[in-house]
Amino acid sequence: MNSRETVLVTGASSGIGAELARCFARSGSDVALLARREEALNEHAQSLQDTYGVAAHVLPFDLSTPGIGREVVDRVDALGLTIDVLVNNAGFGNRGSFVDTEDREQLDMINVNISALTHLARLLLPGMLDRGRGGILNVGSTAGFQPGPNMAVYYATKAYVLSFSEALAQEVSGSGVTVTCLAPGPTKTDFADRAEMHDTLLFESGAAMSPAAVANYGYDAFRRGDTLAVPGLPNKVGAFATRFLPRSVASKVAAYLHRDG
Ligand SMILES: NC(=O)c1ccc[n+]([C@@H]2O[C@H](COP(=O)([O-])OP(=O)(O)OC[C@H]3O[C@@H](n4cnc5c(N)ncnc54)[C@H](OP(=O)(O)O)[C@@H]3O)[C@@H](O)[C@H]2O)c1
Repeated sequence: MNSRETVLVTGASSGIGAELARCFARSGSDVALLARREEALNEHAQSLQDTYGVAAHVLPFDLSTPGIGREVVDRVDALGLTIDVLVNNAGFGNRGSFVDTEDREQLDMINVNISALTHLARLLLPGMLDRGRGGILNVGSTAGFQPGPNMAVYYATKAYVLSFSEALAQEVSGSGVTVTCLAPGPTKTDFADRAEMHDTLLFESGAAMSPAAVANYGYDAFRRGDTLAVPGLPNKVGAFATRFLPRSVASKVAAYLHRDG
């Protein structure tokens, strides 16, 4: 490798994404941090630069904007960066019945969780394949393993991330490039508040992990070239159990876990 690896992390202003950026910076990679909250990105970039001596670039973008992937890659090119690793982590959910949830919010969710993730992968993967190294770490969720009543769109977006990642991993197998899907369960970040889920059985069960533990687990799995990484024993058991349950039953379990605790 002629130069240091550069890693683009979306959703790097808080939570799992901020910790994933730390994992890569700690290992000596330069990072490009993307999210909407520019001030939070600047603070995190400064801290990573000071602590680990790496370059940390800031990319303030709103990934709910249709077609935004092209603008992101144009900015990356203008900065003279070559993205070796793409961490598609930005995402959000919301709780509520499908018909009571704002249509704008549902479409924004699909744009961020699916469209931008796919577009960035499509634009950056060819370069990785040409160079024969690097990869993509997509952040899915244990939500991707079954339908999720009262979070129908969110669960469906994460099912997409899982399926897409596993298929891509096969397509690039043997190329030197790897694709990993990190599928966390409940994690102590801003996600639950934003999704109005903090008082659900799922988050009140006490099983929620720290974002640092989730990120470290995902980072190690990515470095090993694993296709799927489910952090935490309860999450592993839950994801595995969905293989044996009728989908209607798995769907009822998810609905139960979304009830107020
Ligand atoms: N926490 C959990 O329980 C949990 C469980 C499973 C999976 N996940 C997944 O983990 C990923 C990270 O979430 P988190 O738990 O770390 O929550 P978080 O702290 O709320 O982080 C979400 C990140 O996504 C960014 N983001 C959201 N909307 C965006 C937009 N329109 N444009 C650009 N960036 C946007 C946010 O930045 P800005 O607000 O600054 O834009 C933030 O950096 C998500 O994909 C989530 O679905 C979370």
